[in-house]
Amino acid sequence: MVTLPQRRRIAVFDSGVGGLTVLGAVHAALPWVDLRFLGDTARLPYGTKSAATVERYALQASKKLVEVPVDALVVACNTASSCAIPALRDAYPFPVLGVIDPGAEAAVRASRTGHIGVLGTERTIASGAYPAAIAMLDGNARVHSLATPLLVSLAEEGWFDHPATEATLLAYLAPWLADAGARKIDTLVLGCTHYPVFKPMLKRVLGRLLDRDVALVDSAEPIAQALTRMLGPAQQAEGRIDLLATDAVERFVRVGGLFFPVGKAAVELVDL
Ligand code: DGL
Repeated sequence: MVTLPQRRRIAVFDSGVGGLTVLGAVHAALPWVDLRFLGDTARLPYGTKSAATVERYALQASKKLVEVPVDALVVACNTASSCAIPALRDAYPFPVLGVIDPGAEAAVRASRTGHIGVLGTERTIASGAYPAAIAMLDGNARVHSLATPLLVSLAEEGWFDHPATEATLLAYLAPWLADAGARKIDTLVLGCTHYPVFKPMLKRVLGRLLDRDVALVDSAEPIAQALTRMLGPAQQAEGRIDLLATDAVERFVRVGGLFFPVGKAAVELVDL
């Protein structure tokens, strides 16, 4: 009797299309794995909501995602990762991976001076999740955090290289980097899944403000590596990608397509 290789399926959840940056990295690393992504577009942004509300949303959204059997749930939303991981781990028997620890590990690896900057939503920054995760890895590291919530709307607008985005980055970063402590950063964590699309512009703006290079890190690659270790050797077949959104499917396809080639996959509208 021929034994077919076991299919693997990973669920990936975000508040919107930003998590497609994580989906893209996971798909690139594990093209044979089935992926099921949900963007809670009806309730974005999560970053301005209370921790209790984000936890409730994360539980509802993930329940929909894992209606089919999955091997793991990736919380590809820094905001949800900063305040909903314990509740999600209590709820499910399979591994639940957040993006804070992989981002913190990448930052500690990249930094030579131990001065690490973190950009994120209001909720992620208020949670203190990144400084806590970095302190666990390097007790001497100094973390300088800044909430940059407007960047989420600019990313959702597809304005990755737009004068309004450049002006917004300058308005956030110039006063922050005027502080002698923050000025020392040699590594910056993009602590929101929407932010990696701004890497080229961030490099430019940081170069102008600091007159030197700053390493930019995010969680997409590290989480893909963690999943690769978890799932073992590659199988032959091409994985299937299912995309779910809680609102505005056409917009999801249009804007999401800037983050990941959504066009290849059908997007299903779901009600939580
Ligand atoms: N994707 C979310 C994150 O990584 C940010 C967007 C939001 O505020 O919902 O934090």
